Amino acid sequence: MSGTTSRVEPAAALTGHVAVPGDKSISHRAVLLGAIGEGETRVTGFGRSADTEATVAAVETLGASVSQESHDELLVGGVGLRGLRGGDVDCANSGTLMRLLAGIAVGQDASSTLTGDESLSQRPMERIAGPLRQMGGRIATTDGHAPLEIEGGNGLRGIAYELPVASAQVKSAILLAGLYAAGTSTVTEPVPTRDHTELMLESAGVSVRRGPSMVAVQPAKALRLGEVGVPGDFSSAAPLLVAAALVPGSDVTVHDVGLNPRRTGLLDVLERMGARVAVFNRRRAGKEHVGDVQVEYSELAAVEVSAAEVPSLVDELPLVALLASHARGRSVVRGAQELRVKESDRIEAVTEGLRACGGHIRSRPDGWTITGVPARLRGGRVDAHGDHRIAMLGAIAGLASRDGVEVRGAETVSISFPGFFELLDSVVRR
Ligand code: S3P
Repeated sequence: MSGTTSRVEPAAALTGHVAVPGDKSISHRAVLLGAIGEGETRVTGFGRSADTEATVAAVETLGASVSQESHDELLVGGVGLRGLRGGDVDCANSGTLMRLLAGIAVGQDASSTLTGDESLSQRPMERIAGPLRQMGGRIATTDGHAPLEIEGGNGLRGIAYELPVASAQVKSAILLAGLYAAGTSTVTEPVPTRDHTELMLESAGVSVRRGPSMVAVQPAKALRLGEVGVPGDFSSAAPLLVAAALVPGSDVTVHDVGLNPRRTGLLDVLERMGARVAVFNRRRAGKEHVGDVQVEYSELAAVEVSAAEVPSLVDELPLVALLASHARGRSVVRGAQELRVKESDRIEAVTEGLRACGGHIRSRPDGWTITGVPARLRGGRVDAHGDHRIAMLGAIAGLASRDGVEVRGAETVSISFPGFFELLDSVVRR
């Protein structure tokens, strides 16, 4: 994989107080729902990144207007639930954009084509196309992948759908199509996944009924969001928190970060490993939980992660593998086979990267077995494989290493967190 190689030298410690950009999942949803809303939706704390810029461009292609009020504030001019025009939409690297937009597009009168980059074009799309077809949507995949051809103008009907895999993106696609369907649309989940879509739909005035592992929506007449205040992205805070847990002498606080309980499994894992974690100033931003999170260095013990908690830390699992590589004992991560169909095969990318740095890690079909060494890993080279989360993993591995890490494909961090290296520099002591 070509791209930029960045060398990350070992850190003596990480100390300080920082804030991270707005949550990516919530930013995508605010723009998508704003686009099919009534009038204007003001999005503050928007997490600007390559992925969320793709969503802004997508809704503009389909006829909504987006005015950039400042770096992290947008005004989305909605066209109403059925007001999107057709078009060719480039979803770039974003699975969230492609899957959620497909749920909206099947309910429009116009037709559209959704394409993605090389990585997105290899990711499974029948998982949304299947249920959307059951609802009466006309959607064709290309051998199960993007491009997606979506024909509008079809009446949809609600379904009761049991998710075969725990995926918030699939759940969201069905709920969004449910806005256009006759009757109730119900999704049951094997394990609860992030619920940003249902929370935002409730805020927009949609009738949403919820149980511990089910959610049902009624068809909507109109969405009215008004304003969405986006909290900091827990998944962008995670690399900093993990670095603080790993490097002796560290003490880092990330302020105003989203603490949706279905996103913060990493904090539970850190605590089980013996890390020093504190959460302050718990509050709400709309229906979302927010707070300040502090992590201080301490010695770590091995951990077991089970399938039931995977969705709550799915994007943080590469960092859990790094923590486990430094923890005393044998750690096992199970039930994480979904990692094989993310922006890269994250099970193999993590195994390759951590091994190249001196880690004792073996991949399993559904995760890893890791024997930790309670000392700095040697360091080496981590190839991002075009995947932003693997590039950030490599950087944190470098800070915690003895000799430093070369991150190949470091520029991919801009998919979710453009200022990542600069923010890291602001807390790293050499
Ligand atoms: C996301 C859901 C997760 C996550 C992704 C963002 C979302 O994917 O990995 O980064 O915004 O709904 P799955 O729901 O497919 O596991």
